[in-house]
Parts: sequence; C-alpha cells; structure tokens
Amino acid sequence: MKRPIIALDFKNKQEIAQFLTYFPKEESLFVKVGMEIFYKEGPEIIEWLTSLGYDVFLDLKLHDIPNTVYSAMKNIASLGVAITNVHAVGGLEMMKQAKLGLLEGTLKNKEMPKLIAVTQLTSTSEYEMQAEQLIPCSLIESVTHYAKLTQEAGLDGVVCSALEVEAIQGKTSSDFICLTPGIRPENSNKSDQKRVVTPKQAKLIGSTYIVVGRPITLSETPYETYLQIKNEWNEEK
Ligand code: C5P
Repeated sequence: MKRPIIALDFKNKQEIAQFLTYFPKEESLFVKVGMEIFYKEGPEIIEWLTSLGYDVFLDLKLHDIPNTVYSAMKNIASLGVAITNVHAVGGLEMMKQAKLGLLEGTLKNKEMPKLIAVTQLTSTSEYEMQAEQLIPCSLIESVTHYAKLTQEAGLDGVVCSALEVEAIQGKTSSDFICLTPGIRPENSNKSDQKRVVTPKQAKLIGSTYIVVGRPITLSETPYETYLQIKNEWNEEK
C-alpha cells in the first residue's frame, strides 16, 4: 500500500516525538524532514527516525558548486534516507555530481536514496520568474525544461505541483517520479497553499508520491486523518 509522506514541520524533536505518539508503533511511516528541523536538530534526527523504522525524505534542496554538492551528498547517503533532493537550476553537472556523491556514500547492502530535483519553486509566479530570473518563457515551459535536464542528469524525478505532472511526464517518461505537495483532503483548510488537489485527484493525475503536512499535523485526530488520506490515495477508482 502506498503511504502519503507526512511533512514533519515542527519546531524541535520533542514536538515530533509528541506528534508520533498518535501513531501505533507498527505503522511504518514515510516522513519528510525539511531544513528548519534539520538545522535545529542535526543528522541525529534522521538516525532517530530511521531507528523507528520510518522512511525519510530529506528535503534540503541542495544548490552549490558541483564538488560541494558531491561531498554533501556523500554525507547524506550515509544517513540512510530514502529520498533527497537538489535544485535543478544548479545545472546538469551539479546534478550528476550529486548522484555520484549519493552512489559513493551509500553503505554496503543499503539501497541508494532516490534523488529528485526542484524545478521552479511552486512559490515562484510566472511574473517573478520572468522579471527576476530573466527567463522569457512560460512557467510550465521552464518547469518541463528543468525536468528534462533532471532526467538527462540521471536523476529519478522532480518535486512539482500535481497540476504539472501530466506536462512533466509527457516530456520525460511515465515512470519519472513526480512528488507532489499541496495535497488537501476534500473540505479541508487550504492554509497558504493556493493550488491544491485531493489525494484521489493526485492519484488520477499520476503523482508518484504525495506530501501532506498540516492536514495531518494540525488534525485533532492525526492517525485517523492519516488513514483517511492513505485510503483515498490507494482507492482503485
Ligand atoms: O502543510 P502542507 O501540507 O502545506 O505542507 C507541505 C509541505 O511540502 C511543507 O513542508 C512545504 O514546505 C513542502 N513543499 C511545498 N511546496 C513545494 C515544495 C515543498 O508545500 N513546492
């Protein structure tokens, strides 16, 4: 059964530990650790979550010169995460070096983490992209261009809006990972997300993974909400 990835957007380890008490121990979760919590708690937070049997998406969005990203990815690989990422705007060579770092850093008998790239941040509007980055094409053209570059570099996929999945997989391949945040169950609060889809819609659109934060973390009954989203995400039709 496919699991939604829960975004652990909390202030510190204590808050995460408190949140996790809502889940039965045998429920093997897939969680996302972002830069706020990683910079606060350090790599130990990953070791702790993997020791609980969880899969971790480490969302640090690396973007630096190829050699630095290579070395950083070697260290990330040794943490045993399932997925990690870079910014595609770092370029073809940077992405190739990121993958090489992961390959060399993966411990014997362990699976190499999947590597995906951010194309254009979903917080960037077409106007901002054109005015600030001086990219003259449309936003979707830029997104699909970066997705193709990501595939050319040998990466596994991209982070994107569910609404971009069809265009991206059309220009790459149907098995190219599209990991999509901005998921909201029917009738729930959108918070600051503007273009949201339900888990069921994400499935029909072809998202490979969905990331869900506040609908679960702010729920009064997090486990029930998680199961509801998980079931919707796995529904046949
Ligand atoms: O609470 P919510 O479900 O909106 O959380 C979504 C998570 O996905 C957050 O951790 C957010 O930073 C992340 N994210 C996003 N949009 C992107 C990339 C990451 O919402 N384009």
